[in-house]
Amino acid sequence: MNTVAAPAAAPPAAAPPAGYAPANLSLHGVRQLRQARLDETLAKLAALNIAVPPVQYVTWIGDLQQGDGGKGAMVDRLGPSHQLVVRTQGGDNAGHTTVYTGADGRDVVIKNHIVPSGLRHPGCIGVLGNGVLVNPERLSDELAAFSALVPDIAGRVLVSSRAHLVLPLHRLVDGYQEDLKRQSAHEIGTTQRGIGPANVSKVNRIGIRVGDVADLDLVEQRLRANVQFFNLEQSELARNLDWLAGYRELLLSLATDSHRLISTAVAAGYSVLFEGAQGPLIDLEHGIYPYVTTSPTAIYSVGSGSGVDLSSVTRRVGVLKLYQTMVGNGAFVSEDHGPLADRLRRLGAEVGTTTGRPRRCGWLDLVHAHWAVGLNRYTSVVLTKLDVLDDFDEIGVCIAYQRNGVIEAHFEPEHQVLMECTPVYRYFPGWKSDTTGLHSYSQLPVQARELIDFVADYLGVPIGGVTKGPRDSDILVPAGSELVPMLAGASPAG
Ligand code: GDP
Ligand code: IMO
Ligand code: MG
Repeated sequence: MNTVAAPAAAPPAAAPPAGYAPANLSLHGVRQLRQARLDETLAKLAALNIAVPPVQYVTWIGDLQQGDGGKGAMVDRLGPSHQLVVRTQGGDNAGHTTVYTGADGRDVVIKNHIVPSGLRHPGCIGVLGNGVLVNPERLSDELAAFSALVPDIAGRVLVSSRAHLVLPLHRLVDGYQEDLKRQSAHEIGTTQRGIGPANVSKVNRIGIRVGDVADLDLVEQRLRANVQFFNLEQSELARNLDWLAGYRELLLSLATDSHRLISTAVAAGYSVLFEGAQGPLIDLEHGIYPYVTTSPTAIYSVGSGSGVDLSSVTRRVGVLKLYQTMVGNGAFVSEDHGPLADRLRRLGAEVGTTTGRPRRCGWLDLVHAHWAVGLNRYTSVVLTKLDVLDDFDEIGVCIAYQRNGVIEAHFEPEHQVLMECTPVYRYFPGWKSDTTGLHSYSQLPVQARELIDFVADYLGVPIGGVTKGPRDSDILVPAGSELVPMLAGASPAG
């Protein structure tokens, strides 16, 4: 019988020696490997039913003041024209408010500190970038609270595996430090959310990142290092370990390579909305040190806190409240200590969203706002809380400072220098009418237009819109504003 010899089995491919590429790995192969990872990332977005829009926007919402200018409300308004809303800095020291009309016709008010704004819109997913300081307890609480309003919210929030955690020990240290400084009247007036100490752990290379919680030995070792570094009671080790154990599963379920996700989304044509927290006055590098927060708050925070190339952020929308507020300590040139402050505080409900502290108030400081424009190069500015000024006979605007008998129009972010400055005001006649019911920009009273146009001229930045109430619909947008296409379908324009 003829037999056919079975072909000899091919010898197993020899593994390339360590450090050498396999023979078939060409540059094309390297590109294919890379593409496969990108496709995998995009598949995540497709699985969430998030589609590439016809027009792409890469937008940053930043403040022009200390904070609290209405960033959360603006992010909510622009949510429908973006697919990703990304926080890149700060932590739950931020307090952002959104107001909209619910299905039953009643106002829904959302106050969020860590979860990005705008997630009530079904086409948006939220990302906490690597620069965010994440308190997992707050994150868990907010996800639980918002799930009543946004049923699938937990499935639409992703957290950078490289973001650092804020631990109970950080909050403890924040409180201790403030108590100590108070004794010499030098407290910062922090939100006591532990953000400063968490940033200290981060730069001291003993921080615990979201992804690190997978490694229990590493977590324990880092916690020991923190207890030792901050000179805390040994019991803090067990307390923080136990606490963290309660959030381990949640964190690991949300952890993602946020830089890859965001940059892939930008490259694929998705619209990304970066939600700023805090404002330039308290930027760690450029603000009125030491009365600053410990994170970057200026535009560069988008690059450091997400890894995205800043040149892709082509829309930089600044919010500027039409008067000045501050919460916490530090120089405030246009601060009022009398009835004006009381009136602004009452009419504007100026109470800190995070701490419930009454905000310090005064007339709008354009010297400061002009400096913020130089730092952040806003492409448009949204003036907020116009309605708060509806009943004033005249409205002051600080256009210069006087220091040592000399008039200057230059903002130097030095606490001591600013303490020596007094405001020089220009007064505008009030419009003495209710703006809350207006439906278009062209209906604004002539006196309000005079003030708005002056602010635009002073700053050299176009007005993107004016808000006259906290609701999503309370924005009036001038024709030609860069917000018009972004708000289309969401709000009236013109
Ligand atoms: P954020 O930190 O910049 O997001 O601002 P906050 O939410 O901390 O503070 C802004 C406050 O002003 C919130 O209570 C908003 O609901 C409210 N608000 C925003 N825009 C307007 C407006 O145009 N008019 C009035 N009356 N309130 C507004
Ligand atoms: P949003 O995002 C206004 C202030 C605190 C304090 C200083 C340092 O809502 O605009 P921290 O707790 O950060 O170490 O406190 O920073 N601050 C804010 N002020 N708006 C905020 O956020 C703020 N977040 C922190 O009041 O003066
Ligand atoms: Mg706020």
